[in-house]
Amino acid sequence: MTSKCPLVSFILAALTLSTTFSLQPDQQKVLLVSFDGFRWDYLYRVPTPNFHYVMKYGVHVKQVTNIFITKTYPNHYTLVTGLFAENHGIVANDMFDPILNKSFSLDHMNIYDSDFWEEATPIWITNQREGHTSGAAMWPGADVEIHETFPTHYMPYNESVSFEDRVAKIIEWFTSKEPVNLGLLYWEDPDDMGHHLGPDSPLMGPVISDIDNKLGYLIQMLEKAKLWNVVNLIITSDHGMTQCSEERVIELDHYLDKDHYTLVDQSPVAAILPKEGKFDEVYEALVHAHPNLTVYKKEEIPERWHYKYNSRIQPILAVADEGWYILQNKSEDFLLGNHGYDNALAEMHPIFLAHGPAFRKNFTKEAMNSTDLYPLLCHLLNITAMPHNGSLRNVQDLLSSAPPGPIPYTQSTTLLLGSVEPEYEQEESYPYFIGVSLGSIIVIVFSVIFIKHLIHSQIPALQDMQGEISQPLLQA
Ligand SMILES: *[C@@H]1O[C@H](CO)[C@@H](O)[C@H](O)[C@H]1NC(C)=O
Ligand SMILES: *[C@@H]1O[C@H](CO)[C@@H](O)[C@H](O)[C@H]1NC(C)=O
Ligand SMILES: *[C@@H]1O[C@H](CO)[C@@H](O)[C@H](O)[C@H]1NC(C)=O
Ligand SMILES: *[C@@H]1O[C@H](CO)[C@@H](O)[C@H](O)[C@H]1NC(C)=O
Ligand SMILES: *[C@@H]1O[C@H](CO)[C@@H](O)[C@H](O)[C@H]1NC(C)=O
Ligand SMILES: *[C@@H]1O[C@H](CO)[C@@H](O)[C@H](O)[C@H]1NC(C)=O
Ligand SMILES: *[C@@H]1O[C@H](CO)[C@@H](O)[C@H](O)[C@H]1NC(C)=O
Ligand SMILES: *[C@@H]1O[C@H](CO)[C@@H](O)[C@H](O)[C@H]1NC(C)=O
Ligand SMILES: [Zn+2]
Repeated sequence: MTSKCPLVSFILAALTLSTTFSLQPDQQKVLLVSFDGFRWDYLYRVPTPNFHYVMKYGVHVKQVTNIFITKTYPNHYTLVTGLFAENHGIVANDMFDPILNKSFSLDHMNIYDSDFWEEATPIWITNQREGHTSGAAMWPGADVEIHETFPTHYMPYNESVSFEDRVAKIIEWFTSKEPVNLGLLYWEDPDDMGHHLGPDSPLMGPVISDIDNKLGYLIQMLEKAKLWNVVNLIITSDHGMTQCSEERVIELDHYLDKDHYTLVDQSPVAAILPKEGKFDEVYEALVHAHPNLTVYKKEEIPERWHYKYNSRIQPILAVADEGWYILQNKSEDFLLGNHGYDNALAEMHPIFLAHGPAFRKNFTKEAMNSTDLYPLLCHLLNITAMPHNGSLRNVQDLLSSAPPGPIPYTQSTTLLLGSVEPEYEQEESYPYFIGVSLGSIIVIVFSVIFIKHLIHSQIPALQDMQGEISQPLLQA
């Protein structure tokens, strides 16, 4: 009986110490931010002091493999479900479901039909089912009723609402009487300008600087609301962007009879639904049509894309090589930048940075899969993940085991020019120090008691000499 007592005390002391190092409930707050179309290497195009500030005091993943197809809706749904497109059902920005006999189209904002979204359950629903509250500022799909649920707070999609107004809502939700633990924030650029100018355009420099200033604004507002060291901020995107050219256009009208098929989704991945009895004709006409177009029958689509087992994936898929554009004919709209291509291409990859009490500081990781974000979010929110295609183990090294001290954020005036690193002050966190010191003292005290007891019980013959023996033992 007595011999177990010090051991129990020792375990209790160790537990006290480990509790000091685990996530505290008030640190389980997550703000997920997506800057649409922010390619991984835009960080180095122009000075981006705010992004670099986050990298220095947080984590940075250099290559994020997103999902095929590298389009907005499929990838945003993956970020909040951890599923491949064939599993979450949002297989494109433009879809036709032959079973539902219904269409979905981003171009026409015909995206509010719940049926399209209900093959998966996004994280805000799971979060709310576990008793928490969520708030979404324009996150794609977050204003759609899914499984009879909306986010606790959300803004109906309206691209005219300013970034500042979106941030104001996020801050309001995190600081309300019943604060959210999960915030989702979306901004349309640099995607819009990337399409318009093409990513290689020198005019993209100011666009990227503007996004960096927006991030600076977000950090300032979080700091002002005393949230900067409390919230785990994750900044990512859905996809990158590649340069297109009118020299690299594939015109379907050159090869196919318009009456023989329906073009469900266009470029750079053409989803082709042949008319009744026209499958062979369409396939044969297209399969060797152009050296920069790879044509697959649905069952031949490469496994690595996880883009096959869903009725919304059409019988024929024609995928353009990077930088090539698919049009029916040249009278249609053409964009200088596009995405949607093979997700193995680096230019399709988004950024990934994170900062907050749960994350390591100044840590760079080479690569991750975007499907791994979902289990990471669930871990941070302390909720049970739905079945998904990611792995927490693959991204666990982004997490710190100890809560870091706060880093107050102060923006210098030079920063507004976007060329100088933000200034900062390092401040130590007293609760952290007290926790570590107390934990250490408790462990040392109980180690002494435990070792003394060991000597008492296991070496009874040496009991009289315990004082002399325990000294060197403790020094070893
Ligand atoms: C995580 O959630 C479980 C149950 O859902 C709860 O018992 C536990 O206390 C939570 N952990 C923290 C650190 O809040
Ligand atoms: C599918 O819907 C269209 C109208 O959108 C209708 O004309 C057609 O008959 C429907 N097809 C079937 C098989 O129900
Ligand atoms: C969208 O937001 C703008 C700017 O706040 C506002 O003027 C406009 O009325 C909004 N549109 C809708 C449909 O709510
Ligand atoms: C387009 O096709 C040609 C001929 O096969 C090939 O040499 C070229 O690399 C292709 N372009 C791309 C971007 O893959
Ligand atoms: C080009 O394609 C569009 C869309 O299918 C069609 O409306 C238009 O008539 C076509 N133009 C020519 C010159 O074929
Ligand atoms: C961040 O890490 C790099 C090397 O990994 C090191 O050179 C640099 O001094 C570190 N910066 C800070 C602020 O710790
Ligand atoms: C991404 O997922 C694939 C398939 O599960 C796996 O083989 C690969 O190691 C993962 N990549 C990273 C960087 O974790
Ligand atoms: C992805 O996850 C879903 C849900 O667990 C599962 O049904 C599917 O088989 C997974 N896909 C792969 C390729 O593992
Ligand atoms: Zn886009």
